[in-house]
Amino acid sequence: MAKFRIKRYNPEKQAEPYFEEFDYDFPEGATLLDCLNHIKWNMDGTLTYRMSCRSAICGSCGMKSNGHAMLACQKQAAHLLKDDTITIEPLGNMPVIKDLVTDFKLFWDKVDQVKPYLQNKEKQPEKERQQSPHQFKKIDDATTCIMCGACYSDCQVLEVDKNFLGPAALAKAQRFVSDSRDQATRDRIKELSKPGGMWDCTHCGECVERCPKPAEPFYRIKELMAVGLNEGVHNNIGARHALSFVNSVKHSGRLNESKIPIESMGYFNIKGLLDLLPVGLRMLLKLKIPPLIHKPIDDAKDVRRIFEEFGE
Ligand code: FES
Repeated sequence: MAKFRIKRYNPEKQAEPYFEEFDYDFPEGATLLDCLNHIKWNMDGTLTYRMSCRSAICGSCGMKSNGHAMLACQKQAAHLLKDDTITIEPLGNMPVIKDLVTDFKLFWDKVDQVKPYLQNKEKQPEKERQQSPHQFKKIDDATTCIMCGACYSDCQVLEVDKNFLGPAALAKAQRFVSDSRDQATRDRIKELSKPGGMWDCTHCGECVERCPKPAEPFYRIKELMAVGLNEGVHNNIGARHALSFVNSVKHSGRLNESKIPIESMGYFNIKGLLDLLPVGLRMLLKLKIPPLIHKPIDDAKDVRRIFEEFGE
């Protein structure tokens, strides 16, 4: 017998969410969604959640199980059991409408923000605009996104910064930035380089763990960053930080920790540099300041050789 511990909340009736438990001896092979359907249809018809395709295609049944976002129709309940219990909660980083149903408005607003449509000023061809298989490969993974919100739910940046576009919108942006038929690459990259955009990703990789498809937003974000650097859109902290990091390792074989914050902020960004002062002073007081004279490692030339191998 398994225990399903489900977070319930009806804002019209309850001041706070609470957990309710249901016991169900589910059959072999039952998915988490099958179990929820059984509970709803046989035990409590008021239990509320979204579902449609039951085939991991529509993206409706995103929810958290044992603390992590997933598609309920894609996971076998038996694989989720922990001490005979499965804890189910609504997706994170979104307001709850009722029980396991969340409000996707902000999620969709952010997808809209990246202009998720082809921009091409050339005359419309008689038939479709074609791509070679090689060109399609660059956007293939991003096109598999089903907008389930699992990555958005568990994104650690969104936990602290609601202004961040989030992994799903950024993966959608990559789908158009890297589309050979789109002509707005540079404008898109400039927009994505603003605060709240691609450079605010902290590389935790949680979105890759949660994505139920090959879309894997973190890798799409890395591709956006690479396009940003190749396009020369460097006038932002993120791009400067990446370039400073690479230059430091390339020339000395290790990070110059004194220089990176200053170069990331920008030598002429007086306000930004002044903002760094309190941190620098605290580090100085705690004797944590990195050495001011940066020494290269013994075999720095070998590191440079690796960079040269990659054409850097
Ligand atoms: S019901 Fe469609 S993805 Fe789960």
